[in-house]
Amino acid sequence: MKLTIAKNEREFDVAAAWRIIGQMLADPRSVIGLSTGATTKNMHAIVSDIYTRYPFDTSKVTLFNVDELTNLPRSYAGCCYTMIAEQIARPLQIPEENFIMPPTMAEDFEAECRSFQKALEARGGIDLQMLGLGMNGHVGINQPGTPFGSETWVSPMDPIFEARVRRETGVPPEHALGGLTLGIRTIMHAKRIVLIAKGAHKAGMVREMLKGPVTEAIPASVLQLHPNCEFLLDADAAKYVTDLAQ
Ligand code: GLP
Repeated sequence: MKLTIAKNEREFDVAAAWRIIGQMLADPRSVIGLSTGATTKNMHAIVSDIYTRYPFDTSKVTLFNVDELTNLPRSYAGCCYTMIAEQIARPLQIPEENFIMPPTMAEDFEAECRSFQKALEARGGIDLQMLGLGMNGHVGINQPGTPFGSETWVSPMDPIFEARVRRETGVPPEHALGGLTLGIRTIMHAKRIVLIAKGAHKAGMVREMLKGPVTEAIPASVLQLHPNCEFLLDADAAKYVTDLAQ
């Protein structure tokens, strides 16, 4: 298991940003999956800052996000398309055709899931997938209990997160919301994964992810089985797993 522990949050953000920049420099045709949330915000800002100061060719890089909200317009600031576009795709001048995101509104989401997965396969698969860690162990929007064999699909959202989205958007309860997400199998097919987690509030879940059994009850635990997954943590998130670091 590859475990990297940054000594503080700033060092963590910078290290995480360099994982993305490094991938783009090593292979300018990289297909890179991102994730949204508080963990990734500074990291994306640092990636943009490095690119602005030291520009390089991003014309062949493909970017996408591991998940997306469904049944909300992209104009909602919490949509992953909007966050990734603003935080990283536009600042890095990623061509529109290489910023591939499933739609937030569709007649047939199952068909959208299949075509999104095909689009990734057509580009040679995922070279690097950055993953955040949900407080309940979710990755992407795959909630506890998601089968390890799942492909890209629309998952129910975490209830706390869904309540927040409903508050922010004012959508009524009868209006279904969901999360279109790479499935666990799809994630596990990424050639390289970097799982990032920071903050003391994640420490308990980090311990379960790394020291607990591999179980569908903790989706992130499956990453113990990936042959090329790095767990990048700050000291607070790593407090129960320091013995695993070499
Ligand atoms: C959301 C996103 C996930 C992300 C997770 C962690 O559920 N859909 O992709 O990894 O939150 O978020 P945070 O970094 O804010 O803890």
